[in-house]
Amino acid sequence: MLYPKILIAANPEECAKLAANHFEELICSKPACVLGLATGSTPIPLYQELIAREKAGKIDFSRVRSANLDEYKGLTGDHPQSYRFFMQDNLFNHIGIKPENTIVPDGLATDVEAMAKAYEAQIEAWGGVDLQLLGLGHDGHIGFNEPEDVFPVHTHEVELTAMTREANKRFFGSLEEVPTAAYTMGVGTVMAARSILMIVTGADKAQIVKDSFFGPVTPQVPASILQFHPDVTVILDEAAASKL
Ligand code: GLP
Repeated sequence: MLYPKILIAANPEECAKLAANHFEELICSKPACVLGLATGSTPIPLYQELIAREKAGKIDFSRVRSANLDEYKGLTGDHPQSYRFFMQDNLFNHIGIKPENTIVPDGLATDVEAMAKAYEAQIEAWGGVDLQLLGLGHDGHIGFNEPEDVFPVHTHEVELTAMTREANKRFFGSLEEVPTAAYTMGVGTVMAARSILMIVTGADKAQIVKDSFFGPVTPQVPASILQFHPDVTVILDEAAASKL
């Protein structure tokens, strides 16, 4: 069992700065690096910090490649709640990354297996993910890998749990509008990244942070698998660290 490196910052803005330092260091040393990116409210301050750092000339995204963790099933890339739209709106439209160097699972895939295989093949063709950014769901989900009896390995389709749909309904008009399924990188896809950076903020996630990193490794808490990854950094604000 390995323990992650845990950094605790005063607030979400300070967490974002610490996380941005990791990205800056990687992009400066490997300009054509491959990033694994995440959605949700947690990474927004980080994306704002990265935009500011590129504007200040500290980072150059022109050769960076990125692969996103997940996408809602049935949403087009121009749907305001799709993760493709989120990434364009919160990051890609504001930095010099080339559109062809950004991939997000296709929410409209008809042949899910073929889409998933091609997604993983593209990441592999790029040389694999150098730095995978993760948020944490209240039930321990990473990407959209929900609690299950086994750890799903590859990119696949998942049914969203009632808890996740409830948590994500704030972005939609109502619970009924939240898709019931999604496509996500597998836990194995995530674990294949050379390094992993998770950001968690807020007191409501303090218990799941503790369960994920100091509880048993179990597919019922998908993030607990990270205890077996050799290079994990977890950035917490004081509230999320309050039960450690
Ligand atoms: C969503 C996403 C995850 C994200 C998590 C937490 O369902 N699929 O990638 O990490 O939930 O979201 P938030 O940061 O808004 O709490």
